[in-house]
Amino acid sequence: MGMPDNGWMMMASFRRDRSVVKERLKAGTVRRIAGYARPYTRELVLFLALNAVAAVIVVANPLLLKTIIDRGIVPHRTGIVIALASTVAGLALVEALIGLGQRWYSARIGEGLIYDLRTQVFDHVQRMPVAFFMRAQTGSLVSRLNSDVIGAQRALTTTLSSVVSNVISLILVLVTMFVLSWQVTLVALVLLPIFIFPAKWVGRRLQKISREQMQLDAEMSSLMTERFNVAGAMLAKLYGRPEEESAGFADRAERVRDIGVTSAMYGRVFFTALTLVASLATAMVYGVGGSLVVDGSFQLGTLVALATLLTRMYGPLTALSNVHVDVMTALVSFDRVFEVLDLAPMIDERPDARPLPERPASEEVLPSGPADPDPSGAPAIEFDDVVFRYPAAAEVSLASLESIARTDTAPSREVLHGVGFRADPGTMTALVGPSGAGKTTITQLVSRLYDVTDGAVRIAGQDVRDTTLASLRDTVGVVTQDAHLFHDSIRANLAYARPEATDEELVEALRAAQIWDLVDAMPDGLDTVVGDRGYRLSGGEKQRLAIARLLLKAPSVVVLDEATAHLDSESEAAVQRALRTALAGRTSIVIAHRLSTIREADQILVIDDGRVVERGRHDELLAEGGLYSELYHRQFARQDVPDAVR
Ligand SMILES: Nc1ncnc2c1ncn2[C@@H]1O[C@H](COP(=O)(O)OP(=O)(O)OP(=O)(O)O)[C@@H](O)[C@H]1O
Ligand SMILES: [Mg+2]
Repeated sequence: MGMPDNGWMMMASFRRDRSVVKERLKAGTVRRIAGYARPYTRELVLFLALNAVAAVIVVANPLLLKTIIDRGIVPHRTGIVIALASTVAGLALVEALIGLGQRWYSARIGEGLIYDLRTQVFDHVQRMPVAFFMRAQTGSLVSRLNSDVIGAQRALTTTLSSVVSNVISLILVLVTMFVLSWQVTLVALVLLPIFIFPAKWVGRRLQKISREQMQLDAEMSSLMTERFNVAGAMLAKLYGRPEEESAGFADRAERVRDIGVTSAMYGRVFFTALTLVASLATAMVYGVGGSLVVDGSFQLGTLVALATLLTRMYGPLTALSNVHVDVMTALVSFDRVFEVLDLAPMIDERPDARPLPERPASEEVLPSGPADPDPSGAPAIEFDDVVFRYPAAAEVSLASLESIARTDTAPSREVLHGVGFRADPGTMTALVGPSGAGKTTITQLVSRLYDVTDGAVRIAGQDVRDTTLASLRDTVGVVTQDAHLFHDSIRANLAYARPEATDEELVEALRAAQIWDLVDAMPDGLDTVVGDRGYRLSGGEKQRLAIARLLLKAPSVVVLDEATAHLDSESEAAVQRALRTALAGRTSIVIAHRLSTIREADQILVIDDGRVVERGRHDELLAEGGLYSELYHRQFARQDVPDAVR
């Protein structure tokens, strides 16, 4: 291991952000890390043992060199020279093998640990409530899964091995040097501060520059992503001034260029200083030691051994002088991963959760409520005096995962203030009301995307919080306004709802959702790739695909947010027909934007400011002359004309 190798590693270490040293670790972090290391105990022990052996070889070599010179070359004994040279060759071979072994173990431990942490974080994040994803920036979440996990891995391999091998080799080198000549060793040590202090200073500068560099890089790339995504590019085309955009970008790129040059120069200075000190020390050893050899008080081999050992002293010494930064960086990475793992999923299954009764078994008398005399087998939905506020940021997210770290812990505003209603089995309940009234919020409580703050939501008489999540997923089907499709084939998107569905079933569902003709006409049919980067579907088409997905799942409760976008009357009629199929025989809650839907509803709930203010059927409510009739005249009456013509 020569100087340059070590130099780069040391420079990386000096470049590291020293502010981590001031961070406080949570209690028990180290013990917890030990828990992750435990499965790799055998590998770790072997790995560290190999490191120790490698450190011994580093010191053994100069000593062999000394013996070759003093016992072989100087007294002219060829036999000894050849024997010892062979030993050096053998040691080189052993060293090479050890190097491979070290890499094997460090890779096994490191990659294994990355795997363990990554899968654990993924599983955990998957269980988080939607509120978490609303707040957390996907980017910082992905970085937790990538860079912090890798940083944590580094703690167990690179940092640990560098500490162990540096400590061992430093002790061996110093002891050997002192035994060979304490005078020369002292001289060499005197030179050390000349290097260490400037190195620390340059290191601090380098670290500041690195941080600035990262910041500038991030600014430049965020400008690019913002301008070059579809929406941004469109806005820039419509309103932007290309010259100013270019100038703004050039300005950022210029700063990136300048700081790149500064950083390269500081790096070089560090490197040069390191090499220079080593060379000066070597010169000094040859000067002092050489005179002693001429005097005869010193053997030639000893001098050569000392000079060689010297080059192996500065590396470990400087690396260790900065080791606390490395160790803390690694520990902090672990801590940041643990932080995500410790975030308790707010919406979780109770240990005594039960599945909802199966559809055909509807005659069964339910423990927590009377059985519904429903002909369809669909369950009733009840809202019992539901009060709801959205969870505050601090309850669902980590400040460190949000782009603007927010510390507000104040409870958020109450959004629903005692909503009570019952949707009878197999009926359709329409929600109407002004924007921001709480309609979407109500529907989100049925599928348990959020939990009520007070009161209860019951399906088939059973509180959704006492229900297993799997059973709830099977029972409640949701179609949102902007139906999301994965970037995958239509087949895969549909099968997401029911993996075992056959092609016939898929086609049947697509037919019922009034979208089969379109899919059939696509060049790849069911294998056409849709989603963000695939085949572009219109809003109405997407929603019909989502309805097909829902039909495949065949849930007994349907929650639907009708598309607000105006569809042309043909696709509107198609969606309407698809819906009629989807809702038949199911208990449904529909946020209605279309008069035709409202007319078909068994009950209409008018929501205003988090309360049910009116309820009844279309004609009854219209006759009342309240908020509903106001809304009707403002929003729906227009639709009445084509509807009457139809
Ligand atoms: N994730 C959230 N966190 C905090 N408050 C929210 C959140 N989502 C909605 N709100 C608030 O809750 C209230 C009700 O919103 P909701 O989305 O239920 O209205 P809506 O009736 O569906 O309106 P629209 O017809 O415009 O869709 C609004 O005042 C809104 O600001
Ligand atoms: Mg809404």
